[in-house]
Amino acid sequence: MDRRNLREFEAAARERLDPAHYDYFAGGAGDEVTVRANEAAFGRLGLVPRVLRGTGKLQTDLTLLESRAAAPVLVAPTAFHRLADPEGERATARAAAATETIMIVSMAATVAIEDVAAAAPGAELWFQLYVQPDLAFTERLVRRAEAAGCRALVVTVDSPVLGRRERDLRNGFHDLPDHLCCENLRDGARGDRVRPIVMWPELSWEHLGALRRMTGLPIVLKGITHPADARLALDHGTSAIMVSNHGGRQLDGVAATIDLLPDIVAEVGGAVPVLLDGGVRRGTDVLKALALGAAAVAVGRPVVWGLAADGERGVAAVLELLRAEVEHALTLCGCASIHDLEPDMVRRPC
Ligand code: FNR
Ligand code: LAC
Repeated sequence: MDRRNLREFEAAARERLDPAHYDYFAGGAGDEVTVRANEAAFGRLGLVPRVLRGTGKLQTDLTLLESRAAAPVLVAPTAFHRLADPEGERATARAAAATETIMIVSMAATVAIEDVAAAAPGAELWFQLYVQPDLAFTERLVRRAEAAGCRALVVTVDSPVLGRRERDLRNGFHDLPDHLCCENLRDGARGDRVRPIVMWPELSWEHLGALRRMTGLPIVLKGITHPADARLALDHGTSAIMVSNHGGRQLDGVAATIDLLPDIVAEVGGAVPVLLDGGVRRGTDVLKALALGAAAVAVGRPVVWGLAADGERGVAAVLELLRAEVEHALTLCGCASIHDLEPDMVRRPC
């Protein structure tokens, strides 16, 4: 069935998913103020198009940390894809490869990173990492990601503890069903035992230094919201910054990411690419983020909705739809390229 926009994918996914799993994917922390704020904040920004600029062929592709993408929209790391589709992250990665989209594979994937890479030759994969207190184990994980061909490490820094997700508490959802597990957490050094993911409140900038020495891969810090932390991230040699509040799943009440973006872009001053996720549901949202200085955005839930609605085809359809919306909106804004977007093409509310 032809679905005309991302919301229709969510509706289809909701019909297919176990209600507790739908709630896990859709929900957030506390009152879900931040979940709603991310989307609503895009709605409050107005585009200010240019006219009569004779745009012809459009340019939407870009290179980020040496990975090429057909559009400035990445797949954000989301856990547990096999709850949405039996092929899980394999299907997502194939769709990412087919649409030339960079996929950030979650450490909490239900398919091992080696198997994700093998299922989707040619996919541009980055690996998301929660640094584990057992640094030797963390290093083994990094080596696996490197060997699987991942081109960057995305270190999530907004999760010193897990957010309190009341939908999951209400539904009693805290574990994967018995036939699934976080395959990246199998520890070869311990008889393939699956370790639990540890959220580590002691994690600090010092550990980042250790990680930096551990790998030659570019490191992206995901979950930066304060400009002072963006500055520290630069001081610690980060290769890119991802402005994210984890889709409102960690600390409820954090400001919408699109509202946080301009101060971070100003602090970074072009030294490294700034990425953003949270609430991106339309091509026009992508344009707003790029106009305000993001190099690209990432989408979390929409990819899961595509996967639950129609497997690999559904994910590809979601990514294609967004790319087509970006092209259409660019034309209507008088831009031939994503690089033509400027801050004066967005009006921020007073
Ligand atoms: C996430 N997110 C996430 N982030 C991360 O660094 N590691 C992870 O394993 C997960 N897992 C995860 C599961 C689910 C179901 C969701 C919805 C999100 C956060 C994700 O990368 C991203 O920051 C948000 O999803 C962006 O917001 P939108 O696009 O979902 O609004
Ligand atoms: C989540 C974790 C796994 O947001 O990051 O569910």
